[in-house]
Amino acid sequence: MFVVVGVTGGIAAYKTVHLVRLLVKEGHEVHVVPTDDALRFVGLPTWEAISRHPVTTSVHDDVARVRHVALGQAADLVIVAPATANTLAKMATGLADDLLGTTLLATTAPVVVAPAMHTEMWNHPATAHNIATLRARGVLTVGPEDGALTGGDSGPGRMSEPEQILEAALAQAGHARGDLDGARVVVSAGGTREPIDPVRFIGNRSSGRQGIAIAVAAAQRGAEVVLIAAHVDEGVLAEASGLPRVRITRAGTAAELADAVAAEAADAQVVVMAAAVADYRVAEVSDAKLSKDAAGGPGITLHLIENDDILAGLVRDRRAGQIVVGFAAETPQAGQTVLDRGRRKAVRKGADILAVNEVGWAQGFEAERNDVTLLDAHGEVVGEAGGTKRQVADALWDAVRRIRANPE
Ligand code: CTP
Repeated sequence: MFVVVGVTGGIAAYKTVHLVRLLVKEGHEVHVVPTDDALRFVGLPTWEAISRHPVTTSVHDDVARVRHVALGQAADLVIVAPATANTLAKMATGLADDLLGTTLLATTAPVVVAPAMHTEMWNHPATAHNIATLRARGVLTVGPEDGALTGGDSGPGRMSEPEQILEAALAQAGHARGDLDGARVVVSAGGTREPIDPVRFIGNRSSGRQGIAIAVAAAQRGAEVVLIAAHVDEGVLAEASGLPRVRITRAGTAAELADAVAAEAADAQVVVMAAAVADYRVAEVSDAKLSKDAAGGPGITLHLIENDDILAGLVRDRRAGQIVVGFAAETPQAGQTVLDRGRRKAVRKGADILAVNEVGWAQGFEAERNDVTLLDAHGEVVGEAGGTKRQVADALWDAVRRIRANPE
């Protein structure tokens, strides 16, 4: 998920460092938006280092990317922790005199606040009124807790612990950890390579980013994941390799991938074929490097034969209750939109979900962003997702969860 963490000027800001760390560790993309006052408690380098993204308090930085609204628009979740009495008052009134204010006004994502202040301030009718206004607008409040406050007094006003804020915030965003608890999931990712000779192959441009994001999201939502990696960007794969509940196996060619899927899918509840599988392989792979001398003419002809369609086999042999998901990367073609083509493929392939996305020379590959339409086996749209590949992954799992909750 794309999470914005607003930090305002209270001593509890030091606990928010841990909250950001937990979110990053869970694989979320976290952007911290502190107020100027917050930086008196915890400095900007700490927020940048811990979130791994640039941090500013100002609406006048990064103007080219319209940062003052871009963060709010992109967010799946906004957490304000600590939320001071002053910030709550500003939020209730809709004031937007800094980057956090504009971000909060520009977002339609769930907003979660973790108030922290002295008891008198929390109990003041003005604060109580502001909290009531925010709650009526759907803002979730976590805490404050009753306990020791700075300066030796004690009472309600202490910010909740980071773990508690995280749990409540993720549940509010509909991505409760554990909604795939115990599900056995197989995800294939990356592009296969079909050898021509010992040094050459026929490949494709898939980096595996989307498939890896799907595997990581599943593991973080509680599933036991087997990630079958064909040729992928190794840096991206590294993000999945240390994670609990993820086992990685490798497959080079379409035939190896077919074997790996057959071995792993038998007891899986969900199989996602995100890999870009070569439709054809070279009929006779040469043990010797092909040379121009041997070709003896101005060109050569490679004889290609069709590979088995792994997805079609999965659909055919599917056990009762097993969910099969496919992908279709399409380009528009004469008289047919990408969605038209996707609909036909959805019906032809019969997968429970076919995720259709448009690709082109400069679209869809190696990019951070993806846009997909999710179709069922009748070609009906059952979901749409756009954003980072992680956001697309979460939307896909939401669709899987809906099928698991209401099997046909
Ligand atoms: N797929 C597969 N085995 C193959 C080819 C594709 O399992 N031999 C899977 C892919 O992993 C993907 C889906 O099928 O999930 C769609 O792949 P795509 O190449 O778009 O489908 P094709 O049936 O090959 O259609 P086209 O003729 O458009 O290439």
